[in-house]
Amino acid sequence: MNKGKFITLEGGEGVGKSTNLSYIKQLLENAGKKVVTTREPGGTPFAEKIRQLLLENADEAISEKAELLLMFAARAQHINQVIEPALAEGRWVLCDRFTDATYAYQGGGRSMDTSMIEWLEDKVQETLRPDLTLLLDAPVTVGMGRVDKRGTLDRFEQEKLSFFTKVRQTYLERAQQLPEIIKIINADQTLDKVQQEIRLSLQDILN
Ligand code: TMP
Repeated sequence: MNKGKFITLEGGEGVGKSTNLSYIKQLLENAGKKVVTTREPGGTPFAEKIRQLLLENADEAISEKAELLLMFAARAQHINQVIEPALAEGRWVLCDRFTDATYAYQGGGRSMDTSMIEWLEDKVQETLRPDLTLLLDAPVTVGMGRVDKRGTLDRFEQEKLSFFTKVRQTYLERAQQLPEIIKIINADQTLDKVQQEIRLSLQDILN
């Protein structure tokens, strides 16, 4: 049996990942693929517990290294329990965020040493990399404006504008470095136009 494809969806806060994840799932299913949708950090009961630890607003400051290692601990579990088994069965895995988010948030936002992320990526994922990444991109002020309307902010959403500016910059730099894998979708336009760009970006992988 052919292995499934691994597609990830990335972007800063408030760029419309949830709406577009459902849309992408529908497009893949219409093309006859069996699709598993999942997310990071999280995707298994144990990894969702780690997610909670990472997102909740605690009194104790979480060190950058603890945050990075927890991201990869959740990822190791998720890969082992969900992603690899699904791909091996020929299912397509559509994941809301993956390691590009670590490069963008921990590497960019927190200015952590990228070589540490690269090392963890190699050890934890071995050869697993996304076949395609759709990067929803919008100016930081646009995304944050949408997030502010949601109410309570999690530990990341409370970061400053300068943090999210670095996140966005790092995502865009990665897209430049990996143009065959990471496709930039302009998320600062009508939903119709966003979805038109998404359809175009999926053409190659579906043919
Ligand atoms: P979400 O709410 O968009 O699902 O993502 C949860 C938060 O976790 C989001 O603010 C980005 C952050 N995150 C990282 O900082 N590093 C990572 O590796 C991942 C997957 C998410």
